[in-house]
Order: sequence, then structure tokens, then C-alpha cells
Amino acid sequence: MTDSEMPGLYKLAVSERLKEVGKAAGLSEEEMKTLANTGGLPQDVADRMIENVVGGLTMPLGIATNFRINGKDYLVPMALEEPSVVAGASKAAKIAREKGGFTVSNTGPVMIGQIQVIKVPSPEKAKAALMARKADILKKANDQDPMLVSLGGGAKDLNVKVLSSITGPMVVAELIVNTGDAMGANAVNTMAEAVAPMVEEVTGGEVLLRIISNLADRRLVRASAVFAKEEMGGEEVVDGVVNAYAFADADPYRCATHNKGIMNGVVAVGIACGQDIRALEAGAHSYASRSGKYKPLTTWEKDRDGNLVGKLEMPMAVGLVGGAARTHPAARASIKILGAKTAIELAEVMGAVGLAQNFAALRALASEGIQKGHMKLHSRNVAVSAGATGELIDLVAQKMVEEKKIRFDRAKELVEERSKGKKS
Ligand code: MEV
Repeated sequence: MTDSEMPGLYKLAVSERLKEVGKAAGLSEEEMKTLANTGGLPQDVADRMIENVVGGLTMPLGIATNFRINGKDYLVPMALEEPSVVAGASKAAKIAREKGGFTVSNTGPVMIGQIQVIKVPSPEKAKAALMARKADILKKANDQDPMLVSLGGGAKDLNVKVLSSITGPMVVAELIVNTGDAMGANAVNTMAEAVAPMVEEVTGGEVLLRIISNLADRRLVRASAVFAKEEMGGEEVVDGVVNAYAFADADPYRCATHNKGIMNGVVAVGIACGQDIRALEAGAHSYASRSGKYKPLTTWEKDRDGNLVGKLEMPMAVGLVGGAARTHPAARASIKILGAKTAIELAEVMGAVGLAQNFAALRALASEGIQKGHMKLHSRNVAVSAGATGELIDLVAQKMVEEKKIRFDRAKELVEERSKGKKS
């Protein structure tokens, strides 16, 4: 077995690292060349983003069309590996467009920074003492980021709670920070660390964690849209979507998949635009569980005319300054395609895309099922993995769709037959 201790790997240049790892893993020249290609991300930029970089991994970038959001049109970049998602979003946006498109709003770019204090002699007294020093604590926090403050952002409020935990009571001070056009993790974490000594002094306890919360429930986006019944397959399909939503509302097993469908859209735009998608996922699912039960991030109902009305509400912690949104050239180009000028605008578009994606999935599930559309696109992937190249990809894919046999073994047979010049 390969020794996973590779001391000094971090000191090497990217190409040297790749050679070392390639040797250890037995990579072919071709595989090494594939990894060395960092796509739209220059190698030196990649090397500064994370540690021990050996190359890059590119994903398709697709554009969802037809989006009209608050009366403005958007071309939406989406980066992901799953077929049907871009087509689904575009189709949903086309149907929504008939009734004016998506209406979106937001609660502002507000994040929470948590400072955990343990070994507090008198937690309730400490809480009151912290609240009495609120102005000093906020000032200390804001001293860390004069630029953010000059733009109207910064620490705006302090919240203190006493928690009873498995290791005993603890005090948690929360900085409420308007992070402006940044996602805000860096700004909030810096502030939380800066105020920690003051918090210790006031509480008489010991500060442990100082970190942003990804349950961004003060940074919500809301999106809604009307989908005309005649554009989506009739009232029966409208009822089907409402029943599909009721299923998700009643059952966490279904709800996880319902919300996954929303995240297909949110995460794809997030990746394209250089966002921290782990933070988005954490925010979404913790918000979905805020009542103690895991619930859908969307609601679906029928209006008086029999049309379908969808609404989405979820946290959307995204930024345009800092992070890969700035450093990744392809992310910068994607943001330009989208035309988002502020973090709020990006968040709102992502909310609309999440709603559209959920609609596309539920509509398909409540009518013909998702496999028909999905497998059509999937068939091309199967053909490629079975060795088809060039024109053969579409020929093999089409044949498998006709035969309703979209399987690797069948693709392999077809590739072999066609390569031998046989007709099947
Ligand atoms: C697949 O990636 C997403 C769906 O499973 C979502 C859903 O079931 O609602 C189709």
C-alpha cells in the first residue's frame, strides 16, 4: 500500500507534487495530463486557494434561460454534473414567465458570529453584564473592519443566551453583523475573535469557540411565482404538485429529496459564481429543521383560477467580494453573465432558481416521472463511458433511448457493433 505520509509535499511546485502523487498512485501520462489542466483557473491561482494542489477538476458550465426576476431578465450560469437540471430550470422559468416571472425579496445580508463562554461563575449575571457592555463590544467588533462600516455594514447588535448543555451551562454571545456584499465569514470570525478577551473579562469565564453560524436565519431570500395550469399539463398536474408538496411536508424521507431538488439549482449557481456551497447547504437544511421537524423550503398551493403558486424561503449567504467570487476567473465571468451587482441580487436570483428547480422536479414527478428526460441526457454519458466518441456518441445514445435500454452493457455492445461497421 502507498505510504500516505508525504513530508514536504506542500513545499513542492504544483507540477512536482503531481509527479509525486502520480508516482504513488500509479497514474498514467494521460491521467496526469488531465489533472494538470486547471481549466479556467490559472495554476498559480489554484495553488494559492488551497493546500497541496496537484491540478484542477473542471465541470460543465451551462446557462439557464428564460429567467425574469422582479421584472428583469437574467441568463443564469450553472455549474454541475447532473443532466436535466439546466433544462429543468429553463423550462420552469419559461412557464413562470407567462405570469410575469419570479418575485423576490430578502431580509438583508445579516450574519451571526458566536462566542462561546464556558466556566462562567454566574451565567445569568454574565448575560446582563454583557448586555450592559453592548456598545463597547460592538465598537471593538467594528474597529476590525472600518471599510465594511464605511459602506453601511458592520456589527449592529448583540444577543446573549444561556444554554444548558451536556457539559453544563454556557453563555453564548452573538454578534449580529451586516456583511454587505461579502458572504461575511472572514469579517464575522475576525470580529468574534477580537471581542473574545472583552467577553472573558465581563463574564469571568473562558471563551472557547469564536465562529460564524451557518444557520443564516437573518439572511433570508423569498421567491414566489405563479405557474399557469395550461402551461404545465393541466389542473391534474397542479394537484399532483400540491400533493407532492404535502408528502414532503408530512415525511422527512421525502422532504430530504424535495429540498435536494431545490439545492440542485442553488448549488449549481453557487458553484458557477464561486460561492461557499457547504455554507449554503448547512444554512438550508438547518433552516428547514428550525421548528424541530425537517420541513420543505418551499410551499405549493392552487389559486382560485386553478393555477399553481410556489413560494420559497431560505437562508442565502452569498457574496461578491472576497473568496472565489473574486479570485476565480471563471466565477468572475459567470457573475458577469448573470449581471448581479450586489450580493443581495445574487442571493435573490439563487432563490428564484431554487424555486424553479423544485417546480421542474415536482412537475415531472407528478406527471411522466423524471427518468424520461433524465435518461435521454444520461444516455450520452453512458455512451461516452462505454467508449463512444464523435458521432458515435449520439448514435449510440439515440439507439438506447429508442430501445429504452440505457445501460452500460448495451452501450458497449452498440459501440463494438458500430466500430466494426455492423448495423444493428
Ligand atoms: C434529483 O437530483 C432531484 C429530485 O429527486 C428532486 C425531487 O425528487 O423533488 C428529482
